[in-house]
Amino acid sequence: MAAQRCPSRALVVIGAGAVARQVRSLVNTLAGSPYRIVGYLDVRTAPHPNGCSPLLGGDEALAFTDARYVIAIGNPASRRRVDALATNWNRQPATLTHPATTLDEGVSVGMGAIVLPGARIQADARLGRHVLVNANAVVGHDCVVRDHVVLSPLAVLGGGVVVEDAAFIGAAAVVLPGRTIGAGATVGAGAVVTADVPPEARVAGVPATRIDGP
Ligand SMILES: CC(C)(COP(=O)(O)OP(=O)(O)OC[C@H]1O[C@@H](n2cnc3c(N)ncnc32)[C@H](O)[C@@H]1OP(=O)(O)O)[C@@H](O)C(=O)NCCC(=O)NCCS
Repeated sequence: MAAQRCPSRALVVIGAGAVARQVRSLVNTLAGSPYRIVGYLDVRTAPHPNGCSPLLGGDEALAFTDARYVIAIGNPASRRRVDALATNWNRQPATLTHPATTLDEGVSVGMGAIVLPGARIQADARLGRHVLVNANAVVGHDCVVRDHVVLSPLAVLGGGVVVEDAAFIGAAAVVLPGRTIGAGATVGAGAVVTADVPPEARVAGVPATRIDGP
């Protein structure tokens, strides 16, 4: 008997900008196409020239669909907000890992996480719910990356780093092993973080220092 092909599952993408295009590309790359994008939710009402269509409405449209969803938004606080809404409506997220990534032994990936091409997640690292790991980012062994965190392209977390909820790590930033990035903190592009970063702080530079006040 011929093998049956599993029907693909409907997927709604929240956001219709640059991250959405990366998600679309990822979904189209997955072998066997486990998901079929049925539309995008966004505040914009006119179709965007990037081709992310159809637009189904704003976030609230998620309340009226049985499709899985994925949060294609690069702002960690927005990721957290949408997760809270979706959880309230009992919606189920899709977890998307590009085939050209390395997930070492013992790695766990939370529901709704997106791992883009070239990322390397090293042994026993943990990624929380709705984490976004951008292209070519490296998450060192034993790191704990909590919910809604965004790692930009080429960001590097040394071994045992903890990144608390909804923190943002800029492109090509490096966090030295064992440091903690506080909840809601922002690490600027190209920074080298040598000390723990307090919650909600903004740091940049080499070595990273605060740029959000005294
Ligand atoms: C850190 C960051 C969030 C700061 O943004 P901001 O709060 O708007 O800060 P400003 O642009 O007003 O800059 C404040 C000061 O910090 C400096 N600064 C900002 N970003 C910096 C960086 N990445 N490295 C070094 N210095 C930086 C500015 O030159 C400015 O210095 P000044 O006061 O002496 O003039 C932002 O610059 C950044 O690096 N974002 C990351 C972008 C990124 O990686 N995106 C991923 C794309 S996929």
